Amino acid sequence: MLTTSLHRQVGQKIIVALDFSSEKEAMHFLDKFDPSGPLCFVKVGMELFYSAGPSIISQIRQRNLEIFLDLKLHDIPNTVERAVAVLAQLDVSIINVHSLGGRPMMLGARRALKEAKEKNKKLRLIGVTHLTSTSSEILRQDLNIQSEIQSDVVRLAGLVKDAGLDGVVCSSLEVSKLRAKFGQDFLLVTPGVRLDVDKSGDQKRVATPAEAIKWGADYLVVGREVTTAHDPVAMFEKILMSIK
Ligand code: C5P
Repeated sequence: MLTTSLHRQVGQKIIVALDFSSEKEAMHFLDKFDPSGPLCFVKVGMELFYSAGPSIISQIRQRNLEIFLDLKLHDIPNTVERAVAVLAQLDVSIINVHSLGGRPMMLGARRALKEAKEKNKKLRLIGVTHLTSTSSEILRQDLNIQSEIQSDVVRLAGLVKDAGLDGVVCSSLEVSKLRAKFGQDFLLVTPGVRLDVDKSGDQKRVATPAEAIKWGADYLVVGREVTTAHDPVAMFEKILMSIK
């Protein structure tokens, strides 16, 4: 058994994706967890945000959980800049844009964040590189990008850093390269983690939670492994134990 402080320390590295289609389901899920336990950070994505609206953020914050608002903005620079300004008013710790929107879009997002940061100092803005569900084959056939996926993730991460963002969403498989190239202060958030990598579902570039942490990820995003588990609390604990 982990000591309570180590337990919480490991817990702080795991962001549980609240991929539910209503506030009721999300709250019912959170009710299962001990408020003084190791669950510290959750992710609100499109499904929950679009169904429950911005009030879901204050509902979750009342439980003292940190929030990654994962809306992966990708639009013209002006629209993204204004949207980031709006999202930055919410009490969240991380927001993101999609790096494939390009440099001017990310610079717009960065400008909006800079102003918002005066009020919400903890807020960080990161860029999605390639989705963890994207393979080299999808890259070539659907996106007409001929490079290998790992080198293209490194290229996109460089673009994100140049635009002044705080870090990236990438797969665990790229973490050690990105850590070596961009240093300790560049935030690396990795979804696509599975205790059993053979059960990856729609995710293509997966690793175990222990591997992702060992290779240098700051945060892991864990979704269905916990949310659809028969006993989500026990599964969350199992993931913590696998990392310790
Ligand atoms: O259920 P699973 O663990 O695959 O969920 C992963 C979560 O991380 C989902 O909420 C998904 O939207 C998100 N995500 C991802 N790949 C990215 C960025 C975010 O899977 N590159």
